[in-house]
Amino acid sequence: MEIYRIRGGAALNGTVDISGAKNAALPILAATILTDETITLENVPKVNDTLIMAETLRNLGAEVEYLDDNTLKINTSTINKYVVDNPSIKKIRASYYFAGALLGRYHQAKVPLPGGCNIGGRGLDMHEKGFEALGADVKITATEIVVDGMQGPLSGTRMYMDKVSVGATINIMLAAVLTPGKTIIEGAAKEPHVVDVANFINGIGGHITGAGTDKIRINGVPSLKGGSYAVIPDQIEAGTFMMAAAITHGDITVNNVIPTHLDSISSKLREIGCRIEESDDWVRVIGPKDRLKRTQVKTLPYPGFPTDMQPQISVALGLADGCSTVVESIFDNRFMYVNELKKMGCNIVVDESTTAYIEGVDYYQGANMTSPDLRAGAALVLAALAAKGQSEIDGIEYIERGYEIFDKKLRSLGADIEKVEV
Ligand code: UD1
Repeated sequence: MEIYRIRGGAALNGTVDISGAKNAALPILAATILTDETITLENVPKVNDTLIMAETLRNLGAEVEYLDDNTLKINTSTINKYVVDNPSIKKIRASYYFAGALLGRYHQAKVPLPGGCNIGGRGLDMHEKGFEALGADVKITATEIVVDGMQGPLSGTRMYMDKVSVGATINIMLAAVLTPGKTIIEGAAKEPHVVDVANFINGIGGHITGAGTDKIRINGVPSLKGGSYAVIPDQIEAGTFMMAAAITHGDITVNNVIPTHLDSISSKLREIGCRIEESDDWVRVIGPKDRLKRTQVKTLPYPGFPTDMQPQISVALGLADGCSTVVESIFDNRFMYVNELKKMGCNIVVDESTTAYIEGVDYYQGANMTSPDLRAGAALVLAALAAKGQSEIDGIEYIERGYEIFDKKLRSLGADIEKVEV
């Protein structure tokens, strides 16, 4: 087993290049199924989740070649089955994108139920509602999602999403791109990765408008072409390094980012005492000399404060002067890291899984901890970087699902972190 061993206390300083967005790359990899022509994808982060998506495409019969660590050449015209059955796909949430893409292209799919982080009930009813509205028959059993669009023609439709769902919005887009007629998704998610998927599809001949607003219109086209596309930078990886500057009282510039995607994070960092500078493709965070300030945070769909940054800001607020509250409004089990954080001396209480009350302490003490999920694991790393003494964090396979060479990037900023085989 590999763990991170971290000796805390150093302020992190310098510039870090941000990788491509995992949550955009995953559906775009699935979307390559929608065309018979060759796609070259650049800026794909080499993390476990994207490796599993690529392996799954190969398993379906597609040709997938890594031109370098972050560039893939993909041709899916050789796909010869519609059943996703490679065992590792069960580990990731984004497996459900194969249902939308295979339904759109081949009108049938059988996909294992998604895995991914255990951060609360992660229903599929909006995906089901969308596929059914397009005319497919959907069965969700205890182990798999079966979608069948062979019984009658799929056709464009109008649907209203009762819950704002990133996954369902993208999945319905994937299923509707090649479906004749006009599909309208009302109540769509507005996250940057929804827009990125639409941009990729439009770049190869699709007709999607309104991505980034809550009403997306998809005019079905008969076929898509090939082409090249570069995935957008990762909002959450950037936010995590920005939080590292705050918590270690350092000075970090995140490079190769889209600053508007980081606005809600930058605002909160200003509130807790950081100075922010930004230009076209970088944001610099200068942590305060003295203690961070308390604040209130509520996670919300984009452009609100992202739920995927909730553990990281909670960890920072654990060292702030005074009492902060953090309300988690997207997932119902996203405070799994709290017991681990308490081992470091953090004074945090969670009320009914939705609100954390955090009374800032002067310092964290190094501890041995287990990473419960991807973002919580990254947050524990931040806490350890700010702590007195040494910490060991296991369960780092979760962290490596979403952060490319995390330890190496942190070391380049001055962190004392090593990956150790135990
Ligand atoms: C995606 C991201 C995840 C991020 C989340 C919210 C990926 C691979 N994962 O997850 O990192 O935290 O968006 O920004 O991109 N819901 C239902 N029924 C549905 C769909 C969703 O009840 O059919 C609920 C979920 O349980 C959750 C909320 O809606 O409470 C938001 O979920 P959703 O936006 O779909 O998140 P994911 O796509 O799973």
